[in-house]
Amino acid sequence: MTNFHGRSALVTGGARGIGAAVVAELAKQQLGVVIGDLLEHDGRAVADSLGPSVTFRRLDVTDEKNWRAVISEAEAEFGPLAVLVNNAGIVDFGGVDSETPTAFRHVLDVNLYGAWLGMRTAVPRLRAAGGGVIVNVSSTAGLVGYADLGAYAASKWGLRGLTKSAALELGHDGIRVCSVHPGPIHTPMTAGMDDSSASTQPLPRFGEPEEVAAMVRFIVTEATYSTGSEFVVDGGATAGQVVTVPAERRTEDW
Ligand SMILES: NC(=O)c1ccc[n+]([C@@H]2O[C@H](COP(=O)([O-])OP(=O)(O)OC[C@H]3O[C@@H](n4cnc5c(N)ncnc54)[C@H](O)[C@@H]3O)[C@@H](O)[C@H]2O)c1
Repeated sequence: MTNFHGRSALVTGGARGIGAAVVAELAKQQLGVVIGDLLEHDGRAVADSLGPSVTFRRLDVTDEKNWRAVISEAEAEFGPLAVLVNNAGIVDFGGVDSETPTAFRHVLDVNLYGAWLGMRTAVPRLRAAGGGVIVNVSSTAGLVGYADLGAYAASKWGLRGLTKSAALELGHDGIRVCSVHPGPIHTPMTAGMDDSSASTQPLPRFGEPEEVAAMVRFIVTEATYSTGSEFVVDGGATAGQVVTVPAERRTEDW
């Protein structure tokens, strides 16, 4: 178990959904936690509900100057940065030949470029503080393909690759970098989606934000020998495929 007393964490997209659950989980770990998000009203409400060890700062993850300012403010308020959770993300549904160039670029911009900017800004601070942990929230769409989610899948595969590259570069500085791959989770991002789409999974239900947050907490506080690693929280969705076998073939009498 790592001691984070006097250190800060920044969770992007922490105003709601998975990010808000991660903020609540990290706030229990002696960390001062900054929510970095575009949603001021929701972000402040989450911070207010969790007490003085949590605060909100407006952050657009695609803006490098904004990143520098928010990390400086986090360190001024709560101490040297120890944890960055790149969780902010957006989704756009569109086929390879129907999605617009603007939408494709925007998804890559927020989900991949935004996370890279965060790492680029945070790494010198983590290094100066003697180490830390970066958790990049990818997706099962960073492990397999999804029809009509090409931009999203490209961004999440990219984030997985970026995670491994960063892990290779930063281990000697005491900085661990891991990715998390949630399956379908009940959040505003999946609002209106039919829960029955999870019915063929080994665990046939959507997950809850707290189940992803528990994994992020584990990576941050317990997984001290893991870096460049993928942590899957998907109810078994990517475990493989079920094959339907005729009853008479189920056991052979050799
Ligand atoms: N919900 C799921 O089923 C699921 C599955 C796999 C992966 N994920 C990933 O988990 C992460 C969180 O998703 P969620 O389901 O909680 O979604 P959500 O839409 O509820 O929350 C995303 C948050 O990111 C913020 N955000 C968006 N663009 C931003 C920007 N430019 N700068 C700063 N903040 C920005 C939003 O304001 C929002 O608060 C995302 O990266 C998403 O891709 C979600």
